[in-house]
Amino acid sequence: MGLHVKPILPKFGAECSGLDITRELSPAELKQVTDAMDTYGVCVYRDTGLTDEQHVEFSRNFGYLERVPTREGFKMRLPFRELFDASNLNPEGEITTDEAAISYRKGDRLWHTDSAFMEKRTSYSLLLAHEVPSEGGETWFADTRSAYEDLPEEMKLFLEDKVGINSLWWSRKQAGADIPEEEIDARFKARHPLVHVHRGSGRKALFIAAHTMDIEGMDKQEGRDLIKQLIEHCTQPQYIFSVKWNAGDLVIWDNLCTMHKGGEYDYKSFKRDMRRTTVREGTEPHTMDLDDSFTKLFADSPKVVDIQGARAAGR
Ligand SMILES: [Fe+2]
Repeated sequence: MGLHVKPILPKFGAECSGLDITRELSPAELKQVTDAMDTYGVCVYRDTGLTDEQHVEFSRNFGYLERVPTREGFKMRLPFRELFDASNLNPEGEITTDEAAISYRKGDRLWHTDSAFMEKRTSYSLLLAHEVPSEGGETWFADTRSAYEDLPEEMKLFLEDKVGINSLWWSRKQAGADIPEEEIDARFKARHPLVHVHRGSGRKALFIAAHTMDIEGMDKQEGRDLIKQLIEHCTQPQYIFSVKWNAGDLVIWDNLCTMHKGGEYDYKSFKRDMRRTTVREGTEPHTMDLDDSFTKLFADSPKVVDIQGARAAGR
């Protein structure tokens, strides 16, 4: 039985069914999966039955998987370094009370694209729900291709050669972390064009995120005002939808043509156990043993974005 694809919005988001993704897929089946991604940007697979190992194996079909940063003495909750821990749990599996981890995760509730702060961007994120709160905790997605296409022509021309400067610590500052701007300036920032051609569809997309701090060559305030304006544009009701999770659900999104954010929930009362694999842009399926870039980035991370919280997703 082939993949059944049911759109959520006419050009964005789809509920996918009819394919058992716990097993190895044929090239034709895999093409159905990537074709659906190229068209809709976000694909929801319900009640997958995926184990951690199958989640990682399925994800390897799409390229090299980033690895969770490590540090001496750091204890991992999850069994594979390819699984980023997007939960509100400590390494023992209990609800965390670590203020650094809680602070870090507040940034996940701003509109962003995963890993925009890295030099090597993330194409697909594959997030699997293991345990979810009874209320809240949905994930919202925004269509940055349709939003780009609807911009006035003069804005498109203005943006054509603009480059965004992205920092993980900037997004954490936006979410309330007390990080001086000088400290952000002293750390790595990634440069990415604000507009690019989405390879899978040939459509242009905006590439912006809560990580986008400045626009190269623009006055700082004007650049920041424009970033805010563009995020507001992309997140108007016609471009967004939310996914309500149940345990076993997998959502794949293409960070190069979407933004997303987590919805609020009572994180002190409910466990939300979400695990994510993260595919590096432009890499071949089943590529192993490339550089360990997340460990390098987090090697000198300040306490407010501590590595305990950083497991929450490279967001
Ligand atoms: Fe994210």
